[in-house]
Amino acid sequence: MKLFLDTANIDEIKALNNTGFVDGVTTNPSLIAKSGRDLMETIAEICDLVDGPVSAEVTATDAETMLKEGQKLAKIADNVAVKVPLTEAGLLVCKALSDQGTMVNVTLCFSTAQALLAAKAGAKFISPFVGRLDDIGSNGMGLIEEIVTIYANYDMRTEVLVASVRGVQHVVDAALMGADVATVPPQVISAMFKHPLTDKGLAAFMSDWEKTGQSIL
Ligand code: E4P
Repeated sequence: MKLFLDTANIDEIKALNNTGFVDGVTTNPSLIAKSGRDLMETIAEICDLVDGPVSAEVTATDAETMLKEGQKLAKIADNVAVKVPLTEAGLLVCKALSDQGTMVNVTLCFSTAQALLAAKAGAKFISPFVGRLDDIGSNGMGLIEEIVTIYANYDMRTEVLVASVRGVQHVVDAALMGADVATVPPQVISAMFKHPLTDKGLAAFMSDWEKTGQSIL
Protein backbone atom coordinates (compact mmCIF):
# COMPACT_ATOMS: atom_id res chain seq x y z
CA MET A 1 0.00 0.00 0.00
CA LYS A 2 1.24 3.47 -0.86
CA LEU A 3 1.47 6.15 1.83
CA PHE A 4 0.74 9.78 0.96
CA LEU A 5 1.34 12.66 3.37
CA ASP A 6 -1.82 14.62 4.12
CA THR A 7 -0.34 18.09 4.60
CA ALA A 8 0.51 21.34 2.79
CA ASN A 9 3.32 22.10 5.22
CA ILE A 10 6.65 22.06 3.33
CA ASP A 11 8.73 21.51 6.49
CA GLU A 12 6.67 18.45 7.43
CA ILE A 13 7.11 17.04 3.91
CA LYS A 14 10.88 17.73 3.92
CA ALA A 15 11.25 16.04 7.31
CA LEU A 16 9.73 12.77 6.07
CA ASN A 17 10.67 12.82 2.38
CA ASN A 18 14.04 11.07 2.82
CA THR A 19 12.54 8.09 4.62
CA GLY A 20 11.55 6.41 1.35
CA PHE A 21 7.96 5.84 2.40
CA VAL A 22 6.39 9.04 1.09
CA ASP A 23 4.70 8.01 -2.15
CA GLY A 24 2.77 11.23 -2.68
CA VAL A 25 1.06 14.19 -0.99
CA THR A 26 -2.54 15.32 -0.63
CA THR A 27 -3.68 18.86 0.10
CA ASN A 28 -7.08 20.50 0.35
CA PRO A 29 -8.26 24.12 0.72
CA SER A 30 -8.28 23.84 4.53
CA LEU A 31 -4.68 22.57 4.60
CA ILE A 32 -3.59 25.38 2.23
CA ALA A 33 -5.34 27.92 4.48
CA LYS A 34 -3.58 26.40 7.52
CA SER A 35 -0.19 26.74 5.78
CA GLY A 36 -0.85 30.46 5.25
CA ARG A 37 0.84 30.23 1.85
CA ASP A 38 -0.04 30.76 -1.81
CA LEU A 39 -1.70 27.68 -3.37
CA MET A 40 0.12 27.66 -6.72
CA GLU A 41 3.56 28.28 -5.17
CA THR A 42 3.02 25.64 -2.49
CA ILE A 43 1.91 22.96 -4.95
CA ALA A 44 4.87 23.74 -7.26
CA GLU A 45 7.28 23.41 -4.33
CA ILE A 46 5.76 20.12 -3.17
CA CYS A 47 5.85 18.73 -6.74
CA ASP A 48 9.58 19.55 -6.89
CA LEU A 49 10.22 17.71 -3.63
CA VAL A 50 8.09 14.61 -4.14
CA ASP A 51 8.12 12.28 -7.16
CA GLY A 52 4.65 10.81 -6.67
CA PRO A 53 1.20 12.33 -7.18
CA VAL A 54 0.50 15.65 -5.44
CA SER A 55 -3.20 16.44 -5.05
CA ALA A 56 -4.29 20.06 -5.54
CA GLU A 57 -7.97 20.85 -5.12
CA VAL A 58 -10.21 23.08 -7.25
CA THR A 59 -12.31 25.62 -5.38
CA ALA A 60 -15.10 26.46 -7.86
CA THR A 61 -18.37 24.55 -7.64
CA ASP A 62 -19.65 24.98 -11.22
CA ALA A 63 -18.25 22.67 -13.90
CA GLU A 64 -17.03 25.35 -16.30
CA THR A 65 -14.91 27.23 -13.74
CA MET A 66 -13.83 24.00 -12.07
CA LEU A 67 -12.49 22.70 -15.39
CA LYS A 68 -10.50 25.90 -15.97
CA GLU A 69 -9.08 25.72 -12.45
CA GLY A 70 -8.23 22.03 -12.92
CA GLN A 71 -6.43 22.73 -16.20
CA LYS A 72 -4.43 25.53 -14.53
CA LEU A 73 -3.48 23.32 -11.57
CA ALA A 74 -2.50 20.46 -13.91
CA LYS A 75 -0.02 22.76 -15.67
CA ILE A 76 2.00 23.25 -12.46
CA ALA A 77 3.79 19.90 -12.87
CA ASP A 78 3.35 16.45 -14.41
CA ASN A 79 2.73 14.87 -11.01
CA VAL A 80 -0.26 17.06 -10.06
CA ALA A 81 -3.46 15.14 -9.40
CA VAL A 82 -6.40 17.53 -9.65
CA LYS A 83 -8.83 17.07 -6.80
CA VAL A 84 -12.52 17.60 -7.53
CA PRO A 85 -15.46 17.17 -5.15
CA LEU A 86 -17.87 14.28 -5.54
CA THR A 87 -20.70 16.34 -7.03
CA GLU A 88 -22.35 16.11 -10.43
CA ALA A 89 -20.19 19.00 -11.65
CA GLY A 90 -17.10 17.40 -10.10
CA LEU A 91 -17.65 14.13 -11.94
CA LEU A 92 -18.20 15.93 -15.26
CA VAL A 93 -14.87 17.66 -14.74
CA CYS A 94 -13.29 14.37 -13.66
CA LYS A 95 -14.26 12.81 -16.99
CA ALA A 96 -13.06 15.84 -19.01
CA LEU A 97 -9.69 16.10 -17.23
CA SER A 98 -9.11 12.33 -17.27
CA ASP A 99 -9.78 12.29 -21.03
CA GLN A 100 -7.11 15.01 -21.35
CA GLY A 101 -4.61 12.76 -19.55
CA THR A 102 -4.70 14.50 -16.16
CA MET A 103 -4.78 12.44 -12.95
CA VAL A 104 -7.97 13.20 -11.02
CA ASN A 105 -8.58 12.55 -7.33
CA VAL A 106 -12.30 12.61 -6.51
CA THR A 107 -12.67 13.80 -2.95
CA LEU A 108 -15.37 14.04 -0.27
CA CYS A 109 -16.63 10.50 -0.99
CA PHE A 110 -18.96 9.16 1.69
CA SER A 111 -20.79 6.31 -0.04
CA THR A 112 -20.14 3.24 -2.18
CA ALA A 113 -22.55 4.51 -4.86
CA GLN A 114 -20.51 7.72 -5.15
CA ALA A 115 -17.31 5.68 -5.51
CA LEU A 116 -18.83 3.62 -8.31
CA LEU A 117 -19.71 6.78 -10.26
CA ALA A 118 -16.21 8.25 -9.75
CA ALA A 119 -14.61 5.12 -11.21
CA LYS A 120 -16.91 5.27 -14.22
CA ALA A 121 -15.94 8.94 -14.68
CA GLY A 122 -12.29 7.85 -15.03
CA ALA A 123 -10.94 8.95 -11.64
CA LYS A 124 -7.34 7.96 -10.93
CA PHE A 125 -8.11 8.08 -7.17
CA ILE A 126 -11.26 7.98 -5.06
CA SER A 127 -10.93 9.53 -1.60
CA PRO A 128 -13.42 8.12 0.94
CA PHE A 129 -13.22 10.07 4.22
CA VAL A 130 -13.14 7.43 6.95
CA GLY A 131 -12.52 9.67 9.97
CA ARG A 132 -15.39 12.03 9.19
CA LEU A 133 -17.73 9.01 8.86
CA ASP A 134 -16.52 7.62 12.20
CA ASP A 135 -17.08 11.08 13.72
CA ILE A 136 -20.81 10.87 12.98
CA GLY A 137 -21.10 7.28 14.25
CA SER A 138 -20.85 5.58 10.83
CA ASN A 139 -18.33 2.89 9.91
CA GLY A 140 -15.60 4.55 7.82
CA MET A 141 -13.60 1.40 7.22
CA GLY A 142 -16.78 -0.48 6.25
CA LEU A 143 -17.03 1.91 3.32
CA ILE A 144 -13.46 1.08 2.26
CA GLU A 145 -14.22 -2.65 2.37
CA GLU A 146 -17.24 -2.19 0.08
CA ILE A 147 -15.42 0.03 -2.44
CA VAL A 148 -12.39 -2.32 -2.61
CA THR A 149 -14.76 -5.26 -3.25
CA ILE A 150 -16.80 -3.49 -5.93
CA TYR A 151 -13.76 -2.19 -7.79
CA ALA A 152 -12.22 -5.69 -7.73
CA ASN A 153 -15.49 -7.26 -8.97
CA TYR A 154 -15.32 -5.20 -12.15
CA ASP A 155 -11.57 -4.74 -12.53
CA MET A 156 -11.98 -0.98 -12.08
CA ARG A 157 -8.61 0.75 -12.15
CA THR A 158 -9.46 3.70 -9.88
CA GLU A 159 -7.22 3.55 -6.80
CA VAL A 160 -8.84 3.58 -3.36
CA LEU A 161 -7.15 6.39 -1.41
CA VAL A 162 -8.18 6.21 2.25
CA ALA A 163 -8.53 9.81 3.50
CA SER A 164 -9.45 11.57 6.74
CA VAL A 165 -7.18 9.14 8.60
CA ARG A 166 -7.25 9.69 12.36
CA GLY A 167 -4.89 7.05 13.71
CA VAL A 168 -2.58 4.07 13.15
CA GLN A 169 -5.45 1.57 13.18
CA HIS A 170 -7.04 3.23 10.13
CA VAL A 171 -3.76 2.71 8.24
CA VAL A 172 -3.45 -0.93 9.30
CA ASP A 173 -7.10 -1.66 8.45
CA ALA A 174 -6.68 0.05 5.06
CA ALA A 175 -3.72 -2.23 4.26
CA LEU A 176 -5.58 -5.35 5.48
CA MET A 177 -8.51 -4.47 3.22
CA GLY A 178 -6.27 -4.01 0.19
CA ALA A 179 -6.72 -0.24 -0.26
CA ASP A 180 -4.21 1.18 -2.75
CA VAL A 181 -3.22 4.27 -0.76
CA ALA A 182 -3.69 5.83 2.68
CA THR A 183 -3.09 9.55 3.02
CA VAL A 184 -1.76 10.10 6.49
CA PRO A 185 -1.20 13.23 8.61
CA PRO A 186 2.46 13.51 9.75
CA GLN A 187 1.51 12.99 13.41
CA VAL A 188 -0.02 9.60 12.53
CA ILE A 189 3.18 8.65 10.64
CA SER A 190 5.14 9.49 13.83
CA ALA A 191 2.80 7.27 15.84
CA MET A 192 3.39 4.41 13.35
CA PHE A 193 7.08 4.29 14.35
CA LYS A 194 6.34 3.76 18.00
CA HIS A 195 5.93 0.65 20.13
CA PRO A 196 6.55 0.53 23.91
CA LEU A 197 8.39 -2.80 23.57
CA THR A 198 10.77 -1.23 21.03
CA ASP A 199 11.62 1.55 23.54
CA LYS A 200 11.96 -0.93 26.40
CA GLY A 201 14.08 -3.36 24.37
CA LEU A 202 16.37 -0.58 23.12
CA ALA A 203 16.90 0.75 26.67
CA ALA A 204 17.90 -2.77 27.83
CA PHE A 205 20.30 -3.27 24.91
CA MET A 206 21.94 0.14 25.53
CA SER A 207 22.35 -0.50 29.23
CA ASP A 208 23.91 -3.98 28.65
CA TRP A 209 26.17 -2.57 25.90
CA GLU A 210 27.45 0.18 28.20
CA LYS A 211 28.55 -2.49 30.70
CA THR A 212 30.84 -4.09 28.07
CA GLY A 213 32.91 -0.87 27.78
CA GLN A 214 33.14 -1.45 24.02
CA SER A 215 32.49 0.93 21.16
CA ILE A 216 31.89 0.14 17.48
CA LEU A 217 33.58 3.29 16.14
C1 E4P B 1 -7.25 14.36 1.97
O1 E4P B 1 -7.25 14.14 0.80
C2 E4P B 1 -8.44 14.86 2.70
O2 E4P B 1 -8.77 16.14 2.27
C3 E4P B 1 -8.14 14.83 4.17
O3 E4P B 1 -7.65 13.54 4.49
C4 E4P B 1 -9.33 15.19 5.04
O4 E4P B 1 -8.99 14.95 6.38
P1 E4P B 1 -9.83 15.55 7.60
O5 E4P B 1 -11.16 14.87 7.65
O6 E4P B 1 -8.99 15.22 8.80
O7 E4P B 1 -9.96 17.02 7.36
